[in-house]
Amino acid sequence: MSFIIAIDGPAGSGKTTTAKRVAEILKVIYLDTGAMYRAVGLYVLSKIGETLDEDKIKPLLNEIEIRFENVSGERRILLNGRDISDEIRNETISQMASKVSTLKSVRDFLVDEQRRISKNTSLVAEGRDIGTVVFPHAQLKFYMDCTIDERAKRRSLEYSEKKIQTDISDIKRQIAERDERDKSRAHAPLKMADDAILIDTTSMSKEEQIQFVVAKAQKLKDCI
Ligand code: DC
Repeated sequence: MSFIIAIDGPAGSGKTTTAKRVAEILKVIYLDTGAMYRAVGLYVLSKIGETLDEDKIKPLLNEIEIRFENVSGERRILLNGRDISDEIRNETISQMASKVSTLKSVRDFLVDEQRRISKNTSLVAEGRDIGTVVFPHAQLKFYMDCTIDERAKRRSLEYSEKKIQTDISDIKRQIAERDERDKSRAHAPLKMADDAILIDTTSMSKEEQIQFVVAKAQKLKDCI
């Protein structure tokens, strides 16, 4: 029987590292829904710039085909056949993804895609509305949270590993801006599902976060 593990939470809370590794350990698919919003953000930006006009964005959705592919053991995202995995990892696209994600037509389009990908397969999905909207019947739900200072520190470290120059106070401001938009939007705002397990990752190592989720998932696998 297939199962779904949902992991939601704000930027930098540890979702990606945990979801990716847990999926690897359980040998199931990893679904990065944030990457899908980033893909739409990138496409919209390239076609009409930063304007957030739903009437102009809606027809663009018909031109978008998003696929995930495994390349040398890594999950890559393809937009209309082109690998955009690296291109979508910057602050401009983070903000653009957050902006387009407020639009109902964009959410409906991507939620359909996410459900299609998940048909008849077990997976670990991460995002903002996985446990609340996309897969409300997920067998296991987690909400990862963390202080904003720690999240900014983690992001800053990620950027410096990629040799990208950043200022931690800028990163903190950008994260706060995105948190505010993601939590206050009208459609599927970021919030913890009533039946989710809260993980405060502020003082947890990556390994502790992963092991916490894996332990719960193993119990679930034993039951189904
Ligand atoms: O997880 P991420 O940082 O890659 O997500 C980028 C943006 O996409 C995030 O700020 C809000 C949006 N998003 C969303 O609205 N719903 C999701 N399930 C995933 C991401």
